[in-house]
Amino acid sequence: MIVSHLTVKNWRNFQHIDVDLRERQFLVGPNASGKSNLLDIFRFLRDIARPEGGGLQKAVKNRGGISKLRCLAARRDPEIAIEVHLASTAEAPPTWRYALGLKQETRGYRQPYLAYEHVWKDGVQILNRPLPEDTHDHDRLTQTFLEQINVNVEFRELMRFFQDVTYLHLVPQLLRFADTIQGRMLEDDPFGQGFLDRVAKTTEKTRKARLTKIQQALTIAVPQLQQLAFIRDEATGRPHLQARYSHWRPLAGWQREEQFSDGTLRLLGLLWSLLENDSLLLLEEPELSLNNGIVSQIASLISRMQRPHRGQVLISTHSETLLTDQGIDGREVLLFTPTEEGTQITVAVDNAEVKTLLESGLTVGEAVLPRTRPADIGQLSLFK
Ligand SMILES: Nc1ncnc2c1ncn2[C@@H]1O[C@H](COP(=O)(O)OP(=O)(O)OP(=O)(O)O)[C@@H](O)[C@H]1O
Ligand SMILES: [Mg+2]
Repeated sequence: MIVSHLTVKNWRNFQHIDVDLRERQFLVGPNASGKSNLLDIFRFLRDIARPEGGGLQKAVKNRGGISKLRCLAARRDPEIAIEVHLASTAEAPPTWRYALGLKQETRGYRQPYLAYEHVWKDGVQILNRPLPEDTHDHDRLTQTFLEQINVNVEFRELMRFFQDVTYLHLVPQLLRFADTIQGRMLEDDPFGQGFLDRVAKTTEKTRKARLTKIQQALTIAVPQLQQLAFIRDEATGRPHLQARYSHWRPLAGWQREEQFSDGTLRLLGLLWSLLENDSLLLLEEPELSLNNGIVSQIASLISRMQRPHRGQVLISTHSETLLTDQGIDGREVLLFTPTEEGTQITVAVDNAEVKTLLESGLTVGEAVLPRTRPADIGQLSLFK
């Protein structure tokens, strides 16, 4: 199942989004054009749907309230709206449609509440809120049905899909020093502090299978790395990963994750998440810390590791190298263009000039990335 279409109104720096999405989708645009904000739409739905996420109220509160979420460029119409279509493939008709409209109470606690919540299955509407009960008891509209197990039995599949959304922006230092820092870990662990616990939680069989695959990739990508193993520290019981590097002293070659390089850790996290994903994986700038040779392989690695008809990956990137892969289709790239009225998103191939450039044989990176450069960027060279 994948998110095949997204429609949004007044979310952060977007007044309006209306795009089709594919199994693998790259998000490309200047800094602060809203790539992370778009990924956050799916994290928001995940936070609503997860029992430990605290539902709608907490999902909004964690983001600073409706006033932070609503697009500053929004004028007359203050409602925030999100609609997603889930389908078996990008071409298939939607199996599920979920739509949500959000407002804020104008008085009292100024709580966020639902203007509406709709669910369709195979084209038939199975939920249409507000229901008469909602109108009689307004407090009911402060919770979605998506977050309530006792009322969403007919669309559990939808709830599970959202619950399984994963976001990855692994910060090597946080993983490496997770025990020492003991800082607050965010619920969805976006920065990979709890990565080792995630590895430890899988069954031994799955863990072995995944680590064997990752080891194969790492032995190619990381010079001298020969073997990867999962261990538990005998004294503390804490999970660790260790790798054996070829070394002139044969027994001295084992190192633990705190000694792995930034790139090794990020690649490990990336590969693990790809192997784990059977819903929607949100990847922030996977090119960071990685050698260009590896970056040039990421796009095809993602397709190969996406199991057929399962799992979707949305990738924000600034890397031309990542986008030089000839296998990337112009439909797989969304171009973010900031304007005074909010950022506009277009499918790269729908832009006539990009289409011509792609047809003339340029790679997506060559055809699209120059468009994401700020117009006056040359002035930075005068900056002292
Ligand atoms: N409610 C809002 N209304 C308008 N703009 C907003 C709102 N909330 C956030 N923004 C703007 O969104 C921008 C940040 O967008 P985001 O972090 O998604 O960018 P990005 O494309 O991921 O950039 P980068 O490539 O630097 O990571 C900021 O400029 C911020 O001012
Ligand atoms: Mg970003």
